[in-house]
Formats: sequence, structure tokens, C-alpha cells
Amino acid sequence: MEKQWRCTVCGYIHNGENPPEICPICGVDASMFELISPVDEAKASPEAKSAAKPVIAQPDKETAIRQALYRISYGLYIITAQAEGRDNGQCANTCFQITSDPAKVAIGINKKNFTHELIQKSGKFGVSVLSQTGQDYARGFGYRSGRDVNKFEGLAVHRGESGVLLLDDVLVTMEATVTGQLDSGTHTLFLADVTAGEILQEGDPMTYAFFRASK
Ligand SMILES: Cc1cc2nc3c(=O)[nH]c(=O)nc-3n(C[C@H](O)[C@H](O)[C@H](O)COP(=O)(O)O)c2cc1C
Repeated sequence: MEKQWRCTVCGYIHNGENPPEICPICGVDASMFELISPVDEAKASPEAKSAAKPVIAQPDKETAIRQALYRISYGLYIITAQAEGRDNGQCANTCFQITSDPAKVAIGINKKNFTHELIQKSGKFGVSVLSQTGQDYARGFGYRSGRDVNKFEGLAVHRGESGVLLLDDVLVTMEATVTGQLDSGTHTLFLADVTAGEILQEGDPMTYAFFRASK
């Protein structure tokens, strides 16, 4: 494939194995030319690199935003809570560390969820971090409400020091105390201090992408 060189001063394009000794337009020497095709990745300027990339057709604005959100990486967690003698839990991907020292996390919970009601009443929640074999937990806690069923029935669980139920068959668990909440329309963002943690298994955590791919 024939090489293409661009004068970095005036933009003149030269085809050939080597750049011209002198630019016929602006007169600078060969050292001022850059290889643009085939692209020399190591030497190409950022502009030349991006010009050489394939152009991806952009969908309408709303679709682009949704597709962009879809590519944020998440883990999958079972968020548990207890209040007034009732235990419940739900699947959530929106759980993330705010700071590690002190340990603070945030979760985004739909206001209609039974778990939301229990977290607001108790100011506490548990986080069970799913392993890559936790698909049944994600389904069992994510596709039905604890208002209708006892989601813990038949599952191995233990109670944490704060009183919330935690799953046995997960990588790690955490317990947290709510320190603030942000109204986000359909959801509440709960900010919380992590008050306890335990390691139960070695292994890689389940990601939302892994869950979708293994459904
Ligand atoms: C993979 C997956 C991720 C989910 N992530 C969230 C989330 O981040 N926040 C949320 O409020 N609901 C999330 N849900 C939905 C809840 O888990 C679901 O509405 C659940 O039935 C609520 O249960 P509850 O009414 O017993 O609290 C998710 C569900 C699935 C399957």
C-alpha cells in the first residue's frame, strides 16, 4: 500500500515511500512531514490517529445516551434490610464505593421497592457481593417483590452485627448505616458508612455485563 505523508505546517499531502525533501507548498523539509497512511500508530499525531479510525454512525440523541449508559460497568449485589421484624432483599447494580478511607458507599434504590421502605425505616442495609455463579440470586431477588414472597426461603443466610440478613454463598458482605439521602425522582440515592465487612469466598465478582451474557 502506497504511503501518504502530510506536511504538518501547511497540510500538503504527498504520496510515496518517503516524504519529499522539501514541501512544494510551504518549503519546510522532510522532517516536518508525518505518515498518515498506513498509520504509524507510534508517530501519528492525535488528530491523524482519530482521522484514521472508522466512523461510527451516531443514533438519535436519546438512543446514544442509553447506549452510553449501557457501557458503564457495574457489579451485581443483593441489598438487604430489616425493619419492624421484616427482612427483605433486592438485586441492585447501583452500589458503588464513594471513599475507601473512611469506607463509604452509595446505592440507588427505587422508591416503590419494599427494600426502599425497610432502608428508610431502619437507616441500615447489607450488601452481599455476588460471585459469577450468582445468577439465581440475581433473578430471585431482582424479579419479584418481598411484599409478595419470602425471598430468603431455602437460602443459606446469616445475620450481620447490624441485624440485616446476609447471603452465605457470596464473595463478601458489607453492612452500612445511612448518613444521607438524595431524592433522584423514581429512586433514592442512599449514602452510607460501611460499618462491617467479611470475606466469604475467593473469586471474581459478577458484573452486570456477565449476568446479561449468561442469562
Ligand atoms: C440485574 C438487576 C439489577 C437491578 N438493579 C437495581 C438497582 O440498582 N436499583 C433498584 O432499585 N432496583 C434494581 N433492580 C430491580 C429490583 O431488584 C426489583 O425491582 C426487585 O423486585 C425489588 O424488590 P423489593 O420490592 O422486594 O425490594 C435490579 C434488578 C435486576 C434483575
